[in-house]
Amino acid sequence: MKTFADQQHTFPSPQAAADAVAMHIINTLKTKPHAVLGLATGATMEPVYAYIVAAFKRGEVSFAGVTTFNLDEYAGLAPSDPGSYRSTMDRLLFDHVDIDKNRTFLPEASATAWEAAAERYEAMIVEAGGIDLQLLGIGRNGHIGFNEPGSLIDSRTRLVELHADTLAANARFFADGQVPKSAITMGIGTILSAREIVVLATGAAKAEAVNRAHSGAFSIDCPASALQTHGNVLWFLDTDAANARAAA
Ligand code: F6R
Repeated sequence: MKTFADQQHTFPSPQAAADAVAMHIINTLKTKPHAVLGLATGATMEPVYAYIVAAFKRGEVSFAGVTTFNLDEYAGLAPSDPGSYRSTMDRLLFDHVDIDKNRTFLPEASATAWEAAAERYEAMIVEAGGIDLQLLGIGRNGHIGFNEPGSLIDSRTRLVELHADTLAANARFFADGQVPKSAITMGIGTILSAREIVVLATGAAKAEAVNRAHSGAFSIDCPASALQTHGNVLWFLDTDAANARAAA
């Protein structure tokens, strides 16, 4: 397995780190135009999608053959709700590139039979051939997707309750500050099934989580530490997110 140093790329600014992630995705699509991408939302990803949209407009990349599966979606939000991750993905990426929206998938937020919907999502990923490249952010508490501390390393897509820290962090995305308290998320096991994982973490608020993700073995208290078991993970950091690790 690669060591942490082999997998880490550190950049002088959040923008530079995001640009590098976007270029990595674009290069993947150049070599594999029918790639299956696992996508993430969150503020960290916004400059990644902005770079990709600009590259598409310059004719440098096509999404015509691409299939996407997002990590997570808030439970109970209509797809048209501006706070939903479906709306967010449309606004940031899907509405601006040549992707077939019928091949853009998010967990079913309006499902009433959660377990069946979660099983369907897992089956759809398998039917698509599995995820080639999974894009990941990291929560301040070490969550990946919405796998909060306490999540099992072999967990699969399921309904989860969001932690208070996550609700506080994400209130800024909702006009009334009211974040749905539950979500449907790919599990840690689902994420680890991807052939390649690309993590982007920027800002000092992520430094501790990045450091804990690499300290010791897998700890249930830090879901991102499960990534140590994968073997094909690239970490893209800015100097602030990498700082605690450099000092450790
Ligand atoms: C989003 C997701 C989350 C975020 C994480 C970081 O789809 O799965 O794990 O990646 O909460 O969010 P930001 O980038 O807003 O700090």
